[in-house]
Amino acid sequence: MAQWSRSLPATMEANDMLPRVLCTLPLPEPFGSLVSPHAEIVTLGAILPEEELAAAVGDIRPAVLVPQLRDAATAQVIEAGLPELHGVATYAVGFNNVDRKVLRDHGLVLANTPDVLTAATADCALALMLAVARRVVEGDRIMREDSFAGWAPDYLLGMELNSAVLGIVGFGRIGQAVARRAQAFGMSIIYVPHHAGAECPQDLKECCREVTLQECYTTADVLSLHAPLTAETRHLINGEVLRSMKRNAILVNTARGPLVDEDALATALEEGWIWGAGLDVFEDEPHAHPRLRTAMNAVLLPHVGSATGATRSRMAEVCARNVLAILEGTPPPHPVVLD
Ligand code: DGY
Repeated sequence: MAQWSRSLPATMEANDMLPRVLCTLPLPEPFGSLVSPHAEIVTLGAILPEEELAAAVGDIRPAVLVPQLRDAATAQVIEAGLPELHGVATYAVGFNNVDRKVLRDHGLVLANTPDVLTAATADCALALMLAVARRVVEGDRIMREDSFAGWAPDYLLGMELNSAVLGIVGFGRIGQAVARRAQAFGMSIIYVPHHAGAECPQDLKECCREVTLQECYTTADVLSLHAPLTAETRHLINGEVLRSMKRNAILVNTARGPLVDEDALATALEEGWIWGAGLDVFEDEPHAHPRLRTAMNAVLLPHVGSATGATRSRMAEVCARNVLAILEGTPPPHPVVLD
């Protein structure tokens, strides 16, 4: 097991007076400076298998557990922290890795870090759209290999985003931010809301049209996924859906890997059912499906949607404020509804 690191206020020795906050990985500032005056921060420094994480929680007995998206915050892990554990403040907006039922059953709180990573993740979706449409990675490779034979009218032709139809599945904060960016590229936008009856924001009403999932799949030139991972959305994009998409379509996923059946996507890319794919997330992270790794019409990124220094610091601040509220027994600023 990893050597834990402990952080206490300068004037204090390790003791049982301060509540403990257990972080699996070290978090950027201002997490430490906000939390350490009020709690002892114990950092595991590694992503542990479920059994070992449960053992660490049982040993450290934190008041707040701070996992990130790779941690399995399962019933076993959460129950190992009882009765001291008051809540989980995840360093992520997504919380599919946290057992919400067990939190609710024990009256514990869950908080996440929404909003602050919206712009970075939307930028990443646009970067993938452009990279696939204009074959940026292929072009880069050609130049590095010094195999560019010179400009020609039919050389390395891509697809234009201007006038293309962007289909957004999941029209929450990030989906809407993607729509705002896509407007500037001259795309026409259709969307499927995650919740039936969800309101379209005023500034997007004129340019975005709500459609059914089926219409979104068959009409989009670029299909961008922004839905949470749930039992209902797992493998939302399967072989049948991929076959129903346009042959010139691009699939972009910056949400969660298991939204897409990667095996079916690899076949779709190999057999030309769609034009290409831009993926920041994968079913079996940190690995991409072997046949996606060899697909030249796929651009693959290592889950960097929120990876800017400024965004990660803002996430650290939001996470710290959630932790402090849970420690105080007040509602965290960003609670997750445990339905
Ligand atoms: C999140 O916070 O859920 C994102 O996937 C991190 O990039």
